[in-house]
Formats: sequence, structure tokens, C-alpha cells
Amino acid sequence: MKKYKPLHTISLGIIILFSAISIFSINSCAPSKAVAAKSGVQLWSENCQRCHNTPSPTTFSPEIWETVGMHMQTRALLTEAERDKIVEFLKSSR
Ligand code: HEC
Repeated sequence: MKKYKPLHTISLGIIILFSAISIFSINSCAPSKAVAAKSGVQLWSENCQRCHNTPSPTTFSPEIWETVGMHMQTRALLTEAERDKIVEFLKSSR
């Protein structure tokens, strides 16, 4: 004879599964020390290609990189510290 799980056992399983998923996703929003420790070159290589090709540091002059940094900070939702690191890298690597 087949045994069927009672419905409430299945719903409990679903509730536990979703709680586990939400705990993991809440955790991933917490700023980690690893992110704060990232270098300009790391932030540049990880962020700029989310929307377009990663621009080479040689593309613009240091003055233009300052402006691009401000523009892309708002586009990419970067913190000021992240923007400063990226712009420093772009200005120093040309
Ligand atoms: C959220 C998407 C997004 C991210 C992330 C992003 N950009 Fe952009 N970028 C754009 C868009 C869209 C444009 C086209 C101009 C506009 O409409 O703002 C652009 C244009 C540019 C330009 C052309 C000049 C200008 O200022 O318009 C440069 C250079 C540039 N991005 C550099 C960067 C760098 C460097 C990063 C990494 C720090 C970056 N972008 C990250 C969306 C993004």
C-alpha cells in the first residue's frame, strides 16, 4: 500500500526551505570585510563590465577619469570609497 505524506508535512518542508533561502540572501547583503579590502583594479574588473566592456585605463586622461568616475558611480551604485579606488587605479595605470 502506498503511503502519502500528510499535506502539513509537505508545507512545513516548503516553509523550512524558504526560510533557509531567505536567511542566506539576507546574509549576502551584509557588507563583508572582503569587499572593503578590494583594490581599485579588482573593483574595476568586477564592476564596469556589468554593463559594457571594461574601459582600458589608457582610454582617457586623468581629468576625464574623474568625471567618468562620478558619472559611473551613480550608474553602478558604487560607494565613494569604491569610486575613489577605481579612479585612482585608472589614473595611475596609463
Ligand atoms: C549599471 C551599468 C553601468 C555600470 C556598472 C558601469 N557603467 Fe559605464 N556606462 C553605462 C551607460 C548606460 C553608459 C552610457 C552613457 C550614459 O547613458 O550614462 C556608460 C558610459 C560609460 C563611459 C562613456 C563616457 C561617459 O561617462 O558617459 C565610460 C568611460 C564608462 N561608462 C566607464 C565606466 C567605468 C570605468 C565603470 C566601472 C567603474 C562603469 N562605466 C560601470 C552604464 C554602466
